[in-house]
Amino acid sequence: MPTTPSLPGLTLVRHPLVQHKVSLLRDRSTPTKIFKELVDEIAMLMAYEATIDLPLEPVDVETPLERTVGQRVAGKKLTLVPILRAGLGMVDGILKLVPSARVGHIGLYRDHDTLEPVDYYFKIPGEAGERDFLVLDPMLATGGSAVSAISALKRAGAARIRFLCLVAAPAGVTRVHEAHPDVPIFCAALDRQLNEHGYILPGLGDAGDRLFGTR
Ligand code: PRP
Ligand code: URA
Repeated sequence: MPTTPSLPGLTLVRHPLVQHKVSLLRDRSTPTKIFKELVDEIAMLMAYEATIDLPLEPVDVETPLERTVGQRVAGKKLTLVPILRAGLGMVDGILKLVPSARVGHIGLYRDHDTLEPVDYYFKIPGEAGERDFLVLDPMLATGGSAVSAISALKRAGAARIRFLCLVAAPAGVTRVHEAHPDVPIFCAALDRQLNEHGYILPGLGDAGDRLFGTR
């Protein structure tokens, strides 16, 4: 199996089921319905990995036989923050795993010429400083959108942030890590490079268009 180079701040989720599903996602003949289902499933599997060190606290539980002490996730509800639009495709899969999670939204699009993010929406739950955030976007290309979203969250008081994407380009990972070294990055594939239009190669194309059937 070819080895994948690692980058500071990056965790590559190598689980065979994730890798299998990413190959199906890349396939240009995968229809919108299946593409959506795959994004949902991969996001859920990645969230399992990305939440591996969430703090726990003891909780009293009454089983049908006796009282015992179990463990539950400590603190305020985990908060998912999809970057619109494509990040929306990752929300439901993670909510299957963490049904009580809250959902904030950050609206950004990449300007086609400059490739810089343009922001248009921001809404997250209160008490941001006491929450764990998972920022969601299938594609980490130049990293501009991720850096901008994470900066906006920090301005709103967030301190514990993880970034989850499906496909990352090395330049994007490096840019996010340099701007936000405290934010762990998780991806399912670390691809080769960006093309002259800022698209990831080999990539999977435009994630938003493939999720929502737009062109
Ligand atoms: C895509 C993708 C990321 C961004 C990545 O969104 O979903 O948000 O590009 O590129 P970057 O790392 O170079 O910033 P896009 O701007 O196409 O918006 P959309 O999700 O609304 O289609
Ligand atoms: N956004 C996408 O949807 N795909 C890419 O390859 C790069 C940015």
